[in-house]
Amino acid sequence: MTDLTAALTEAVAKAFVSAGLPAEHGRVTRSDRPDLADFQCNGALAAAKGAGKPPREIAAAVAQGLAGSPLLASVEIAGPGFINLKLADAALAERAGRIAADPRLGAEAAPEPRRVIVDYGGPNVAKPMHVGHLRASIIGESVKRIYRFRGDTVLGDAHFGDWGFQMGLLIVAAADADPNWREVAEQDLSPEAAAPLLKGLDLETLDRLYPAAAAQAKADTAFRDRARKATSELQGGKAGYLTLWRHMHDVSMAALQREFHALGVDFDLWKGESDVDHLIAGMVEDLKAKGLTEVDQGALIVRVAREGDKHELPPLLVVSSEGSAMYGTTDLATILDRKQSFDPHLALYCVDQRQADHFEIAFRAAYLAGYAAEGALEHIGFGTMNGPDGKPFKTREGGVLKLHDLITMTKDKARERLHEAGLGAELPQDEFEDIAHKVAVAALKFADLQNFRGTSYVFDLDRFSSFEGKTGPYLLYQAVRIKSVLRKAEETGAAAGNAIAIGEAAERELALLLDAFNGAVREAYDRKAPNLVAEHAYKLAQAFSKFYAACPILSAEPAVRGSRLALAGVVLRQLELALELLGIEPAERM
Ligand code: ARG
Repeated sequence: MTDLTAALTEAVAKAFVSAGLPAEHGRVTRSDRPDLADFQCNGALAAAKGAGKPPREIAAAVAQGLAGSPLLASVEIAGPGFINLKLADAALAERAGRIAADPRLGAEAAPEPRRVIVDYGGPNVAKPMHVGHLRASIIGESVKRIYRFRGDTVLGDAHFGDWGFQMGLLIVAAADADPNWREVAEQDLSPEAAAPLLKGLDLETLDRLYPAAAAQAKADTAFRDRARKATSELQGGKAGYLTLWRHMHDVSMAALQREFHALGVDFDLWKGESDVDHLIAGMVEDLKAKGLTEVDQGALIVRVAREGDKHELPPLLVVSSEGSAMYGTTDLATILDRKQSFDPHLALYCVDQRQADHFEIAFRAAYLAGYAAEGALEHIGFGTMNGPDGKPFKTREGGVLKLHDLITMTKDKARERLHEAGLGAELPQDEFEDIAHKVAVAALKFADLQNFRGTSYVFDLDRFSSFEGKTGPYLLYQAVRIKSVLRKAEETGAAAGNAIAIGEAAERELALLLDAFNGAVREAYDRKAPNLVAEHAYKLAQAFSKFYAACPILSAEPAVRGSRLALAGVVLRQLELALELLGIEPAERM
């Protein structure tokens, strides 16, 4: 199904050809002056150069060729030779009707489906998730959904940080903290024998243990060295360490899964760095055999710097001088693993922009080793969520804000907002809680996704949670309003019509926006930019609000009422689809 931009481009290109000019000048775009026109074509200006004729003359010839097109109500020439196009109401109505009948609500699938990995979330086992992981989760989830909707086969992978230094740190800290845990670490106990000894090593304990151990490692070199050694012994397969590691991994993983679930974030692969450990030895041999490695101060490295690099890229550290696999090592092995198991055309890494070098280094090494085709790995970085001071958000105590606390805070705010709006008293407790949760998640996600991912933004809970303005709750609220109109119609026996008619300016605007969904999704896909879908959802909700104020629905005469109900229905479905692509769940009442 083509959208109006494509249909008009085809018609205008034909008119160029009829005037003896190349079709490529017929490209039509949305008008940047919606008060004057719906669409425009600037091709006459470029065509004039080749043809040696004044642009206005060419525009006039093209306009003549368009005369009588059923798509158009008017063609006007403006300024030096811009062609301004106004759509016929009937053509708009017809397009709106086709969108209403389309399960994809007007958005086309990608021409060639691909296999795509989206690597996002990236929490670290036993370290609490923070707002950086929130951004990775929100943006990655939306990118995954947009890619899948376009028709690609997509696997989302959490890529847990579960095999690095922090695990060695925790092993040493646990062994120091409790003789039972030490026994598990130092003895090669059976799982049955270890289980009762590990009882107290729960989530709360891990939450306490890790920050203390991290602080101690900073201050105390002997402790740090023990943790380093433990890391390499763990990776070397020391049985007691593995038992302890497995326990801490599972405890922490269960908690992380709960948190992701609450956020509406779901992975196809709950894999981590540790899952590629078995590939590392072979990979190191392969890198050596390919002549890519060098020994540098006891460590094994791959140099990746290239002539003309803007800044000097350090080499990939494959094996540290202690014999440990590093962050980049597991990333390279993961690329190899994905190639062997899924052979993706593209892997997108949704991770903080500040890790750009890390990925550039790992990707280059992968290209050198032939583990991925040049360009098939892409880091889609994002900026930071900042505090009012413009610096990365910190708690009042100056620490990193834990994701869990952020969500609790946002939910409290959502409850407050719902009470302000007069909702709550009459609702059963669990329904109220469910709505508060949806409002909170919508507030957080939309606040993030409305910006291009590379942009940093300032956290402002008051603004994000408002039911007015460019916010998630506003979008939920508009959807709820449409639903309540449709519900009322149903109660009074008023039915949506089969056809949509377009007459009023507010109806035109809505229909034009419905048509623009296709372009918004396609561009969001091409540019890995969910903000374009967010922008579309916001404009659609706003246009509905205008329409609702300007055009009576239930009190209109039956034919008009039927058309407006049909229009409201398709707007709701497209709005909810856009929200779904953003990972935002709609509410039934607000
Ligand atoms: N665990 C990492 C962190 O917290 C993010 C992982 C991102 N993904 C990857 N393949 N390296 O910074």
